[in-house]
Amino acid sequence: MSICKASRDEPYMLGRDYQASARLATLQLLIHATLGYLIHPSVSLPDRELTKELPTSARLDGFDISDEQYPPESWYGENVSLSKLDIFKPLPEELKGRYDVVHLRYFMTIVRDDTMQVVVDNLNAMLSKLHYHLQSSKVIDDGEEPGGYLQWVERDWLSKFPQSASSTDDPHTQLTCYLRRFWSPTNWINEIPKYFQKSGLSVVAYDTHTPLPIYRKPWNEDNLIGWWAAGERIPDEKERKWFQELHAKAATNAAKGWYVDWELIICVGRKGLHET
Ligand SMILES: C[S@@+](CC[C@H](N)C(=O)[O-])C[C@H]1O[C@@H](n2cnc3c(N)ncnc32)[C@H](O)[C@@H]1O
Repeated sequence: MSICKASRDEPYMLGRDYQASARLATLQLLIHATLGYLIHPSVSLPDRELTKELPTSARLDGFDISDEQYPPESWYGENVSLSKLDIFKPLPEELKGRYDVVHLRYFMTIVRDDTMQVVVDNLNAMLSKLHYHLQSSKVIDDGEEPGGYLQWVERDWLSKFPQSASSTDDPHTQLTCYLRRFWSPTNWINEIPKYFQKSGLSVVAYDTHTPLPIYRKPWNEDNLIGWWAAGERIPDEKERKWFQELHAKAATNAAKGWYVDWELIICVGRKGLHET
């Protein structure tokens, strides 16, 4: 059973309306607050503050399978582009070897163990084989330096819950176990370096961060909004009602201090010059 189809007929269960966009915007701020950066310090960049104006020497190209949540084009600068890309499909030639840094975030509900390698290989193929020295804006091709960086940021939420739940389990466990059946298996979330290495990338950083207690509330609320959006798409009325009643109990529990000690995972890989 598929519990939802996004408007372009690809399964995406979290929705793309203004609430979904606001949830992602909060997520962006929470990730920044939790990690303290958007791009990992192991990536050599001249200007690390990507939330401000991009330096004119830099280009930022954003991709998503859907353009429904992009802001109007006139609101972002000339050195920014946002376009559509299905990362599971063969990569367009013009994107191959083009980027110094490729960053993917939050594919928990999208990628499965048997599709993870396709995604990593496609992202790797987008990386430049040359080391572009961003400080001096010079391409270094001395045969020594490796190429571009791939950064993947993920939330390890699912491994904190069992594979299946019973009606005596707490509401969050029941909701999460109900939803996970639509995207399992997701063991890849705890094995990202393995997929990077299989793709030929050298892993230069692998860190995990548990959110500070002060951020537990907004993280929980962000999650509750996402689960509500998913629950609204359950076609069977009885099942949907069951889900929504449990969701109300989960929200009450969260307001009283329920939380899970999950981690943000960040993995950075680097392309080798001699990789084929
Ligand atoms: C949880 S959101 C994360 C969005 C964004 N990366 C962020 O961190 O805020 C997952 C995104 O993946 C997109 N997506 C789903 N399937 C995709 C595919 N096959 N190729 C590219 N993007 C996809 C969805 O449209 C959605 O915007």
